[in-house]
Order: sequence, then C-alpha cells, then structure tokens
Amino acid sequence: MKIDENLQWILSYYRSCEISGALFFGQLARSLKPSSIQCDMTRHFADEAQHARYWTNCLAELEAEPLKLCTSYQDQYIATAGLPANLMEILAITQVFENRVIIQYNLHAATAGLPPEVQDTLKVIMTDEQWHLEWIRDALISMEPEYGKDNIRQTLKRFTDADREVYQKTIVEHVERINHLELARR
Ligand SMILES: [Fe+2]
Ligand SMILES: [Fe+2]
Repeated sequence: MKIDENLQWILSYYRSCEISGALFFGQLARSLKPSSIQCDMTRHFADEAQHARYWTNCLAELEAEPLKLCTSYQDQYIATAGLPANLMEILAITQVFENRVIIQYNLHAATAGLPPEVQDTLKVIMTDEQWHLEWIRDALISMEPEYGKDNIRQTLKRFTDADREVYQKTIVEHVERINHLELARR
C-alpha cells in the first residue's frame, strides 16, 4: 500500500458517501415525474456513482483496498434532522450536504503532501460537485411560489444546524485520523 491507514480510511469514507448519494438520488430519479428536476436528478445520481468509481480507482492506483464502512455522513444527517418530508426538503438537505462536500474536498485538496492520484481525483470530482450545488440552488428558487421563500430558508437553516452537529460528532469520533490528516475545521 502506497498510503497510510488514515488516508486509506478517509478515501474509503468518501467512496462510501458517494455510493450513498448515488443510491439516494437514483431512487429519487426513478420516482420523480417528468420535469427538469427529474433530468437534473438523473445526471446528479450518475455523477455520484462515477465519483464512487473514481475513489475506488484512486485507491487501487495507491495499492489500497477500500475499507468496508457501515455508516455514511448522509445516514447520520437523517438520524439527526429527521427524514425530509417533501421534494423541497430533500433538495434543501442536499444543498447543505453538497456544501459540506465542497468544503471538505477543498480542505483536503489544500493539505500538504497529498499524493497526485488523490489531487487529480479531487479535481475531477469538484467540477461536478460545483454543478450539483448550482442546479439545486436554482431548483429551490423555482419552488419558492409553491413552498414559500421563508419556509425554504427555515428548512435550510434546520438542515444547516443538523450538518454542524453531525460534522462535530464526526470530528470527535475520528479525531485521531482527522488530526493526522490535518482535516479539522469547525
Ligand atoms: Fe460526489
Ligand atoms: Fe455531489
């Protein structure tokens, strides 16, 4: 293995989260009625599935196997914030989550001594993640007449609070690895 256990763990964690995202959005894409949201959601789930593939490939290039991890960031979100009740809430929780992904990937890209394989993978994925944030933001704006601007703002706040809580818990739970990788930011 060309990397240490901590990097193997976090890349495996990213891979698991990307798989959870792909499965979650894939199920949604299957159940939505024809619309621009259905179109974007389909592209979105395909992107997340590709990201899982890129991390799997990246680990293979580094001669490391993906660790089997039982939980993902998304599972903890749902446990903290509750299941989203409608499509607007699903998009709101997704926007908050995608924001967190971008912060985390940016933070990781900026750490010193990162293997080029990881750097390249982060770069490719970040382009897609940027688009995820954009289409969801636009979709939420288009929902304002139906759900109300204030209601959407409050929903985003509720999920942002849940995100902070889950992020803090994740840091505490994995403090040694995260400190070793210099990835802590509160
Ligand atoms: Fe992704
Ligand atoms: Fe994403």
